[in-house]
Amino acid sequence: MRSLHVDEYNHDDCANEYDEDVKNELSDPIRAGYEATLQWVVDYANVNEKSRVLELGSGTGNLTRKIKTCREIVCVDISTKMEKLGATKLSHLANRSFIEDDILEILIKDIGFFDTIVSTYTAHHLIDEEKKVFFKRIWNRLSPGGIAVFGDLMLETEASRKLQIDSYRKRGEETTAVAIEEEFFWVVDDSVLELEKTGFDPVDVKRFSDLSYGIGAKKPASR
Ligand SMILES: C[S@@+](CC[C@H](N)C(=O)[O-])C[C@H]1O[C@@H](n2cnc3c(N)ncnc32)[C@H](O)[C@@H]1O
Repeated sequence: MRSLHVDEYNHDDCANEYDEDVKNELSDPIRAGYEATLQWVVDYANVNEKSRVLELGSGTGNLTRKIKTCREIVCVDISTKMEKLGATKLSHLANRSFIEDDILEILIKDIGFFDTIVSTYTAHHLIDEEKKVFFKRIWNRLSPGGIAVFGDLMLETEASRKLQIDSYRKRGEETTAVAIEEEFFWVVDDSVLELEKTGFDPVDVKRFSDLSYGIGAKKPASR
C-alpha cells in the first residue's frame, strides 16, 4: 500500500524552484540547517566503495551528490521532474539507478538488502503510523551491521508542537506555523523510542536548527 499523502507531496510542481528555495536558510525556518543536516547524514553514513546504498526521497540529488563513491546506489522518489534535475548532478556515481515509487511501498518490493539507507526531508510526509511501519521496513532491508540515517523537520517532543506553532504564528511566520500544523514533522523523542524498539542500537540525534535534526540508527551486526 502506498503512503496516504504520496500524491499530494509529489514535488513535480515545485521541482524547478527547489534548489533555489533550499538556499533560503537565513530567511526561512523550514530551510534553516539544510546543508549542515545533509552533510551530517553523509558523514554519519560513512559510505565507502563497498556500500550498497538506498536513498528514499532523492529529489534533485542534493544528498546523493555528497556521496563520493559507493558500490551501488538506488534512488527512489515519486517525482520524475525532481529526478530529471538530479540526474544531471550525479554522473560521478557510475552504478546509480532510479525507481519512481513511494518510499513506503518500495521497501516491501524485491530490491535486495542494503548496507546504508539514507533519507532527507521526505519522511515528514508520512503520517506517524506510517513512520513506525517505515522504520520496521527499513530494518528488514538493512544487512546486519547496516546503518539508517535521516535528516528531516522534527519537533523535540509532542508537547512542543503547539508551543512551536504559536511561537511562529506570533512572529508572523504563518507559512512555518501552517507547515507544522499540516505536515507530519517527526517527534524526536517518539522516533528514537520507536527506532530503539525496532532494534536499532545505538540511535544518535543531532540538531541543526530549530526544526532540522539528524537521526542515525545502527542495526547491530548480530541481528
Ligand atoms: C523536500 S524534498 C527532499 C529531497 C531531497 N532528499 C533533499 O533533501 O533535498 C521531498 C522529496 O520527496 C518526494 N516524496 C514525498 N513524499 C514521497 C513518498 N511518499 N514517496 C516517494 N517520494 C516522496 C518528493 O517528490 C520530493 O522529491
